[in-house]
Amino acid sequence: MDDRPIGMFDSGFGGLTVARALIDLLPDEDLVYIGDTGRYPYGPRPLDEVRHFARQIAGALVDDHGVKMVVVACNTASAAALDLLRFELEVPVVGVIEPGVRAAVQATRNRRIGVIGTVGTISSGAYQRAVRSHRAQVELTCSACPGFVEFVERGETDSEQVHVLAERLLHPVKEAGVDTLLLGCTHYPFLARTIGDVMGRRVVLVSSADETAFEVRSILEDTGLGRRSAGKANHRFISSGDVDLFRQLGRRLLGPELDRVEPATWTDR
Ligand code: DGL
Repeated sequence: MDDRPIGMFDSGFGGLTVARALIDLLPDEDLVYIGDTGRYPYGPRPLDEVRHFARQIAGALVDDHGVKMVVVACNTASAAALDLLRFELEVPVVGVIEPGVRAAVQATRNRRIGVIGTVGTISSGAYQRAVRSHRAQVELTCSACPGFVEFVERGETDSEQVHVLAERLLHPVKEAGVDTLLLGCTHYPFLARTIGDVMGRRVVLVSSADETAFEVRSILEDTGLGRRSAGKANHRFISSGDVDLFRQLGRRLLGPELDRVEPATWTDR
């Protein structure tokens, strides 16, 4: 048994979708969440730069916050840095791409899956590789959705503008006749109403959040790293951007567990 917290990070608010699933599935586990809102969005940045940010933040989670596991709650950072973090860190590292693919492959009936994500994630080919290594006989249509993340970070999850953008960006996956759409960016579940509306009710939207939480639980069980102490879990939230904004919008997006936000500090590694 291990009372250290689980660490997780994202470029901003998106990873809160994964945090919500983790808190619901593992309510006794302590959590440290870092949102890199000072440097979001990650999606348009070169993967090398995202890899650098991911090393910095994951390093801070392990060295400064003493976490027992790192959840890379960001597809772009998972695409850029998951293998490297697994190699470098001495704690288990969980990404969101593989769990998302697993959930989508289970959900599809017509074997046509759409994946939407940031430019960085889609152009990295990480989803195509994950599907290949899964050996799933599915046809994948991938589409980048630049602009979606910025709407979420502004707290604009249901506006006319985001709807117009969604109509344009989702056109390729609609045309491909997918019956399952994998939200390959942890920000996108906050836009699920708009995305679902545009895709139509016959298309199942799949997020990686729940499947990632299940993976975390099975690693804790397999390694005996689950929390021993009884008592209320401690959930810490840290932002590299405006902490007041993070508290206000983060609380709206995550729920009452987010009641305090600390400023981020880390050193270059
Ligand atoms: N939530 C991130 C992801 O899953 C975000 C992206 C961004 O900052 O562009 O890819």
